[in-house]
Amino acid sequence: MRILITGASGQLGTELSNVLKGDVIKVYNTKEVQGGHKLDLTDYSAVEDFIIKKRPDVIINTASLTDVDKCEVERGLAFKVNAEAVKHIVRASRVVEAYLIHISTDYVFDGEKGLYKEEDLPNPINYYGLTKLLGETYALSYDDSLVIRTSGVFRHKGFPVYAYRTLKEGGEVHAFKGYYSPISAKKLAEAISELINHRKTGVLNVAGERVSRVDLATKIKEKFNLPGGVKEVDYVKGWIARRPFDSSLDITKAKKMLSVDFYSLDENLRYMVV
Ligand SMILES: NC(=O)c1ccc[n+]([C@@H]2O[C@H](COP(=O)([O-])OP(=O)(O)OC[C@H]3O[C@@H](n4cnc5c(N)ncnc54)[C@H](OP(=O)(O)O)[C@@H]3O)[C@@H](O)[C@H]2O)c1
Repeated sequence: MRILITGASGQLGTELSNVLKGDVIKVYNTKEVQGGHKLDLTDYSAVEDFIIKKRPDVIINTASLTDVDKCEVERGLAFKVNAEAVKHIVRASRVVEAYLIHISTDYVFDGEKGLYKEEDLPNPINYYGLTKLLGETYALSYDDSLVIRTSGVFRHKGFPVYAYRTLKEGGEVHAFKGYYSPISAKKLAEAISELINHRKTGVLNVAGERVSRVDLATKIKEKFNLPGGVKEVDYVKGWIARRPFDSSLDITKAKKMLSVDFYSLDENLRYMVV
């Protein structure tokens, strides 16, 4: 089985490259990956050509403009990478009959309810969420696609890593009081690796346990016995885009489907790269 990973230089792409065995085609944009191919997803004809030439059996589209504030400012670029590029990946997937796994986000929701199920109605409140929702729509226009919604992916970046480093240095973590469902890139990659064989289509939530950033930072402080402090805030200095208050995901379906423990907070915290 030939598997193409976009965003191979990102957090999830790095872990997928480690977990998946065999004929893996790695694609990056600006951060070179060993043995990978440079491909800018906004060069749509190059994207279609590449997929049609390589004829992968499975495509995992992890590539995205993930900086929520950058998306709010650079709207044209966010739209191209997070939405329009997916349309072209789908066009080429149809030609080569590839199974497409497209990675999306809890930020397609407004955060007023929390513990969102797969069938809940999205209502993004920032541009990142809007462009990701459009990307989902393109992916789901293809019968042989699975949209995986996830939350708070961390490896060498993300809130838990920021909290760990700040607490270790004796600093004060500014923790937004909202809730989400953080997952390590490693556990997410393991879950995706198992899901490839299920060949499910539609939408599936794959994320960690619901937790507030305050409780998460406090847990990291206690677990690793770190000296710094945690301060709850309504808003983090520098934020441009609005954030959903409770974007946590209901992971009941994925728990029933998968054998791997992808969700426990303690298990996930083992895989921070600090
Ligand atoms: N991080 C989170 O908290 C979070 C939460 C929910 C959902 N997600 C979703 O999970 C997925 C993986 O996230 P992540 O944290 O692994 O992302 P990440 O570490 O920020 O990596 C993003 C990847 O996208 C690639 N990329 C960006 N623009 C590109 C372009 N024009 N052409 C080709 N590649 C491009 C980057 O390539 P280069 O680095 O080579 O430029 C990089 O490999 C994304 O779909 C994201 O929306 C993430």
